Amino acid sequence: MKTSLSALALVALASASPVVVEKRQGSSGNGPFAPAGYYTPNALGGHTFYAPKTVPAGTKLPVMLWGNGGCSADATGQAPFLTQLASYGVLVIASGTPRGGGSTTADVMKQSIDFISQNAGKGDFASVDASRITAAGWSCGGIEAYAQIWDARVQSIGIWSSGLLTNYTAAGSFRKPVFFFLGGSGDIAYQNGERDYAAMPAGVPKYKGNLPVGHGGTYTDANGGKFGVIGAQWVQWVMRGNASAAAYLTGSGAKNDGWSVVSADLDKLGVTPIA
Ligand SMILES: *[C@@H]1O[C@H](CO)[C@@H](O)[C@H](O)[C@H]1NC(C)=O
Ligand SMILES: *[C@@H]1O[C@H](CO)[C@@H](O)[C@H](O)[C@H]1NC(C)=O
Repeated sequence: MKTSLSALALVALASASPVVVEKRQGSSGNGPFAPAGYYTPNALGGHTFYAPKTVPAGTKLPVMLWGNGGCSADATGQAPFLTQLASYGVLVIASGTPRGGGSTTADVMKQSIDFISQNAGKGDFASVDASRITAAGWSCGGIEAYAQIWDARVQSIGIWSSGLLTNYTAAGSFRKPVFFFLGGSGDIAYQNGERDYAAMPAGVPKYKGNLPVGHGGTYTDANGGKFGVIGAQWVQWVMRGNASAAAYLTGSGAKNDGWSVVSADLDKLGVTPIA
């Protein structure tokens, strides 16, 4: 049995807007929901959806919004990484279109929230649970994600090699969990990310991992490389409510892969398993 989200993908495969699995890396994710792919639904132009091609009946997908590096409107710039996360059971809505030109704004990400909040649980999006939305992004895309923290429909934030560029004090007002993934001291966003992590108020869950790869990350390595490994465990834990997946991020898994990790108040995350 396949849910309508996968039906949509299959219909798209045979029609004008094909599901295109990123060919550059020859991979489509290695998670339990693999293969995953991406497509642009007719109902929401200017956005790219990464999803498992099939979703077991009765299984729900949480939602991760993604702002691309440089706020680019090319939603496939980080395709191997995003495909990998989708293969772990998440609907990723990236701002922009496959190989699109130009740039995006935070409002493009807000359109994703509006759309999926109105359509989750219905029709083509029957398998989507929009009560679980995380806003995330790389570099400039992380600034787009930060802008959603004040939206009541968003539960948590993922900051990948980014940090506030103006009004630094805003981090002191954050009341939602923020997960930082930085490229070490050679990352141009390192100081900003470190500063925001430190400025967050006590009692709000926060996590920060540094991998010394610089600002470019590992998004286009096969399955998103080490960022894909930690990202997959992150979405399983924080979005799908799989408490066992926390062990990689907070334990020896991430450490053995070269991550330097600090965190606080993660016991207050209150994750519950998704359907
Ligand atoms: C900075 O951010 C805080 C928290 O959102 C807000 O209350 C404040 O008005 C902002 N300050 C400026 C100058 O934008
Ligand atoms: C939870 O995460 C662990 C660690 O990644 C994984 O082995 C396990 O299969 C996951 N459980 C479910 C129900 O997805």
